[in-house]
Amino acid sequence: MEKIMKDFFLFLSKNRSLTKLAKKYGLRFGAGRFVAGETIDQAVKVIKELNSKGLVVTIDYLGEFVDNEAEANEMANQSIEAIRAIGREKLKSQLSLKMTSMGLDISDELVMGNMRRILEAAKENNVFVTIDMEDYSRCGKTIEVFKQLRSEYDNIGTVIQAYLYRTEKDIMDLNDYSPNLRLVKGAYKESPEVAFPEKKDVDENLKKIIKMHLQNGNYTAVASHDDEIINYTKQLVKELNIPNSQFEFQMLYGIMPERQKELVQEGYTMRVYVPYGTDWYGYFMRRLAERPANVAFVLKGMFKK
Ligand code: FDA
Repeated sequence: MEKIMKDFFLFLSKNRSLTKLAKKYGLRFGAGRFVAGETIDQAVKVIKELNSKGLVVTIDYLGEFVDNEAEANEMANQSIEAIRAIGREKLKSQLSLKMTSMGLDISDELVMGNMRRILEAAKENNVFVTIDMEDYSRCGKTIEVFKQLRSEYDNIGTVIQAYLYRTEKDIMDLNDYSPNLRLVKGAYKESPEVAFPEKKDVDENLKKIIKMHLQNGNYTAVASHDDEIINYTKQLVKELNIPNSQFEFQMLYGIMPERQKELVQEGYTMRVYVPYGTDWYGYFMRRLAERPANVAFVLKGMFKK
């Protein structure tokens, strides 16, 4: 049953008509639990609150699968606005974004132009930028974009998904770039031809790549709410004598906030991924797919005014 629900929400996450409808009608159905608001001002308020509790942040102006140049340019402008807000308000925040919102599906020239504009603004404001990883069909291209930009800028990292078979090789190949990587399980619906279908294999692969990346001496963001992965990392860094300055934990806004605070109290860097904006639909559906129990929140939200 859980698998059917998961597939259903991942199927819904790609529905373009529902995405458009959701944008028009604003944050609904409990999406506010996972999304910090629709405007940068609302997001800034949330970030200040998190920062005051010792949590650091990566902010994301929501958007994906953009299919026209004007919208991709506007998405880049919004990310630049977010970077300037970080600088102006002295927020402890990085920036995350998706390549399909910058024009990855349109042209290389567009995506690289938008990314260079963003990275220049980020450099001026001392902001680190992470390229989120989307579905498998964009993975290879996203890594190529990352490699090119990494050879031009220091303030850029990307995400590697443990559910893909190709991942171990990507970790090895990327080592030449000394990359700052966020390691995750993976949130999209992928075929067994390209991704481990069983959760236990994904979990084992995540542990494996966390170890590889740390042992390679690279900065590692362990982005997971899974206690087993968190405890594994704590134990591993002790065994390998890895300092706290070489890794951090990351979690999503609205998920396990108490655990987030505990990790800060234990002395770890804990970064919260804070999404905002009107294009919340696909992000929200992926959060529901990860944990069908979240559907209870949706049902409650539907009956709220
Ligand atoms: P797992 O799914 O095993 O969950 C462990 C426990 O965490 C669950 O039992 C539950 O208690 C809790 N939990 C997990 N998800 C929850 C939810 N939605 N609601 C409530 N509780 C939940 N993916 C991707 O493909 N590309 C990317 O760029 C990113 N970026 C990213 C950034 C950050 C900061 C995080 C934390 C995650 C991502 N992800 C991602 C998502 C990631 O791939 C994965 O889908 C989720 O983190 C869920 O997997 P867990 O590792 O938390 O484990």
